[in-house]
Amino acid sequence: MGLWRVLFFMLALTLVFCVASACENTATTLKPVVPTKLSEKETVDDGKIKIGFSMDTLEEERWLRDRDLFKAAVEDLGAEVKILAANGDDAEQVLQAEKLISEGVDLLVVVPHNAEATAAIVNKAHLAGIRVISYDRLVKNSDIDLYVSFDNEKVGELQAEAITKLVPKGKYVYIGGAETDNNAHLFKKGVFNVLQPLIDKGDITVVYDEWTRNWLPDNAFANMEAALAANNNDIDAVIAANDATAGKVIEALEKQGLAGKIPVAGQDAELLAAQRIVQGTQTMTVYKPIQTLAQEVAELAVRMAKGEYIDTDRKVNNGKIEVPSVLLAPIAVNKENMDETVIRDGFHLREDVYR
Ligand code: BGC
Repeated sequence: MGLWRVLFFMLALTLVFCVASACENTATTLKPVVPTKLSEKETVDDGKIKIGFSMDTLEEERWLRDRDLFKAAVEDLGAEVKILAANGDDAEQVLQAEKLISEGVDLLVVVPHNAEATAAIVNKAHLAGIRVISYDRLVKNSDIDLYVSFDNEKVGELQAEAITKLVPKGKYVYIGGAETDNNAHLFKKGVFNVLQPLIDKGDITVVYDEWTRNWLPDNAFANMEAALAANNNDIDAVIAANDATAGKVIEALEKQGLAGKIPVAGQDAELLAAQRIVQGTQTMTVYKPIQTLAQEVAELAVRMAKGEYIDTDRKVNNGKIEVPSVLLAPIAVNKENMDETVIRDGFHLREDVYR
């Protein structure tokens, strides 16, 4: 081979090598959309599984409880958890999730503030090879990997069943949750599953039906005042989407001297609600054993982070895919069964409920 041919051959080899390595670089920056298994992922520095928990808010009793229970459950399994809460700000929640992703979490657990906006989190996590679990609230229109919650339609049904038993005929007010939260739609669907046949019969009229923007209790108060004013206080029953809103409904009723006279339903079995129930201003709540939810998610999260693929019998459509789902059973709580439910479970202490 002449010198020129040798030089040409070497040049060609170099070129091929450069192109190949350039391609390789591109390939490594384009992370797979399909989540990688842990065996293919780098483990974190201390060797522990690291879970990111992106929360909507910590402004309500239940979410503080979720945070603490989830942290304890993850740590009991020998893993670590980094928690960030966005205070109801969609853009902030996406930024916080990005932060968790860039810090190298192995898996993300998300309580979405906004069911649609958080789809961006799922996309970003998947691009980084991280799988995502929807905690309590469903992330819609995304390839979310797993959804663990309660049977939220059943929550609404339990509320309406309890109230229609007491008020089979009359004027109803529905104080909904945040329209941006998929759960709020499910709660409402459940309520109307029970009310609709009675509405059709002409026994029940829904005289007021509004969402509560951002689930803020003050907005629920304004809604309830509007409901009372529009009906000259002529209302027979109120179903509120949770206990925080029910508390404000009762405050509005109190202002009119009606607290304790009109049945009110809530949900979450918050301590204040349990106290109102035994005192007689709130009729019922729905207890969702958060301990079981937090434990279930922690176990599944750690298994998934280790590379296991979880499938479930139950699937929930999120507008894009059939999401593998675990839905736990909610429990109706009133004055009569307070002791056998929330108190027996240690959710609240007896002396705190009956102050
Ligand atoms: C939860 C409720 C909670 C509400 C407001 C819903 O998605 O399921 O338990 O009260 O959000 O935070």
